[in-house]
Amino acid sequence: MPQYQAVKGTRDIFPEEVARWKYVEGVVDAQASLYGFSEIRIPVFEYTELFQRGIGSTTDIVGKEMFTFQPDPKGRSLTLRPEMTAGVMRAAIQNNLLASAPVHKLYYMGELFRKERPQAGRQRQFSQFGAELLGVSSPAAVAEVITLMMEVFRSLGLQRLKLRINSLGDADDRLRYRVALQNYFSPFADILDDASKERLEKNPLRILDSKNPALQELIAGAPKLYEYLSEASVQDFEKVLFYLKERTIAFDIDHRLVRGLDYYCNTAFEVTSSELGAQDAIGGGGRYDGLARELGSSTDVPAVGFAVGMERLLMTMEKQALFDVVAPQAPLVYVVVQQQELADHALQMVCRLRNASIKTEIDLAARSMKAQMREANRIKASYALFVGATELTTGLYSLKNLATSEQTMLTLEALLELLGESAAGMQLQP
Ligand code: HAM
Repeated sequence: MPQYQAVKGTRDIFPEEVARWKYVEGVVDAQASLYGFSEIRIPVFEYTELFQRGIGSTTDIVGKEMFTFQPDPKGRSLTLRPEMTAGVMRAAIQNNLLASAPVHKLYYMGELFRKERPQAGRQRQFSQFGAELLGVSSPAAVAEVITLMMEVFRSLGLQRLKLRINSLGDADDRLRYRVALQNYFSPFADILDDASKERLEKNPLRILDSKNPALQELIAGAPKLYEYLSEASVQDFEKVLFYLKERTIAFDIDHRLVRGLDYYCNTAFEVTSSELGAQDAIGGGGRYDGLARELGSSTDVPAVGFAVGMERLLMTMEKQALFDVVAPQAPLVYVVVQQQELADHALQMVCRLRNASIKTEIDLAARSMKAQMREANRIKASYALFVGATELTTGLYSLKNLATSEQTMLTLEALLELLGESAAGMQLQP
């Protein structure tokens, strides 16, 4: 076994797969731009407090999953970003973005880090693309964000995805619900496990997430959040659903959907893929009107956004055979040197072809002609172009079509014209 292995929960992405990533990223760029979102790039690490305040100190992400480090004994604690929303909001507040325009529509792609137990679809370094709409969180804004996410999926040809949606109520609804949960669970404090006891005080909503089998019956009987929604919250939610129906976006209302981050209010949603097994959430998001204040903003910044896991998205696309379309490759010319004294001349030829945007390869190791031809076939070159003494004296180059074995003699001008035309007609696809 080699001495150095990639860290568990991280992986290498080799060129063939990178082409798939780029294809997906291209679709994200195009859709985001269609919806008026511009790309933002934020740092990979931030002060730890940002995530503690933003995501919530009782969440699993902050409690157990952050990669936190201290740059020096006196330095402030830093954390590799486990998600993007808090960082994007920090950037907006710090740079006073909302002063220049009341609404900002930002999207991003990048790596995230969570110290979770690695398994299929769950990594310690993973990637997301996502979008955040800052400055307004009206039902139309929420529907816009969900529509963008679903349109990316549709453009990629994904099928059998399930969108689940819920209303978590506004801050007041949540406060009333919190008290109701505390009143409900308090008499059972003796049978609660230690984690749930702690949550009873700090964040009773999290008790509902407990996987402890001994508590499931008690949890099933707990008051339901939707019973505590105000009339305004219900109407807001219904309006979001109305927009989704109007756009024929299918959804299931799931009153048990609570997301693993504390900043959400009102509409929250998640998309799952039946192709994925245990880690089936491909993306999720919601409204987070309280985050800006939590992070020290002097004004309210209503906001809504989503993020999609790239690895899980690509896994689903693979399972649904969406990459099976054979990519038409730009034709590739392999310049074959017949006598090594002519190698420098052949290299000049390569430069000329590449300057004309023709994909060109050449052997850089002065190997035999037989080896060069073997390599040309291995890399699936479309043509072999021979450079030998005859070519030099006559100015006519012999070009062999490697698929048909047809061979033609061409002047350099004719060659550039022929290859340039076929190169221009090709586009890279998945
Ligand atoms: P999240 O649900 O924590 O939301 O993550 C979004 C997606 O990232 C998940 O649905 C999943 O596909 C992917 N993901 C999460 N953890 C892992 C992992 N360990 N390995 C592989 N993929 C993973 C957020 O991050 C919010 N910031 C979304 C949001 C944006 N809400 C509002 N705006």
